[in-house]
Amino acid sequence: MYDPDPAVTAKDPLLRPLKIGHVQFRNRIMSTSHASGLEVGGMPEEAYQRYHEEKARGGIGLSMFGGSSNVDRDSPNIFRQLNVATDAIIPHLQRFSERMHARGAALMCQITHLAVAAIPTRETASPRLRRPRSARRSTVASPRRWTSTTSIAW
Ligand SMILES: Cc1cc2nc3c(=O)[nH]c(=O)nc-3n(C[C@H](O)[C@H](O)[C@H](O)COP(=O)(O)O)c2cc1C
Repeated sequence: MYDPDPAVTAKDPLLRPLKIGHVQFRNRIMSTSHASGLEVGGMPEEAYQRYHEEKARGGIGLSMFGGSSNVDRDSPNIFRQLNVATDAIIPHLQRFSERMHARGAALMCQITHLAVAAIPTRETASPRLRRPRSARRSTVASPRRWTSTTSIAW
């Protein structure tokens, strides 16, 4: 149970609450997104949720989850990311956010389209992304075309 001493939080800026837009964070301590390897078939099931819930129990203000979660079938799973391209993930996210909020922590997901970075070979690439080697090279040379976005789930 996170129950900080007000005398301590008054002295430490990291422990003071913070409001960004309509989201209130209980402190300024956060964990950044990473693919934890705990997902099951791209879904954040029990172990995945417990991993983050333990951080919330410890008092974290915000836990970012879903390192580079896939947003489309053209951004395939290459390092056990979550698959947010399917509505099948919605019940998991609802349960996940309820658990985190019950512990007083905010939750945020990193979503990414990995573009050609997720295509190991031309043979395994989706037809939508197959293109001549020269074109693929120019895309890789322009990282601004890769999109990585984070959305808040509070
Ligand atoms: C195994 C692993 C996977 C990671 N995956 C991502 C990712 O998908 N997206 C991202 O933005 N950062 C990723 N990171 C970077 C972490 O979010 C974090 O910025 C980094 O580990 C530094 O923080 P730390 O010193 O607390 O570990 C990853 C880190 C690790 C160790």
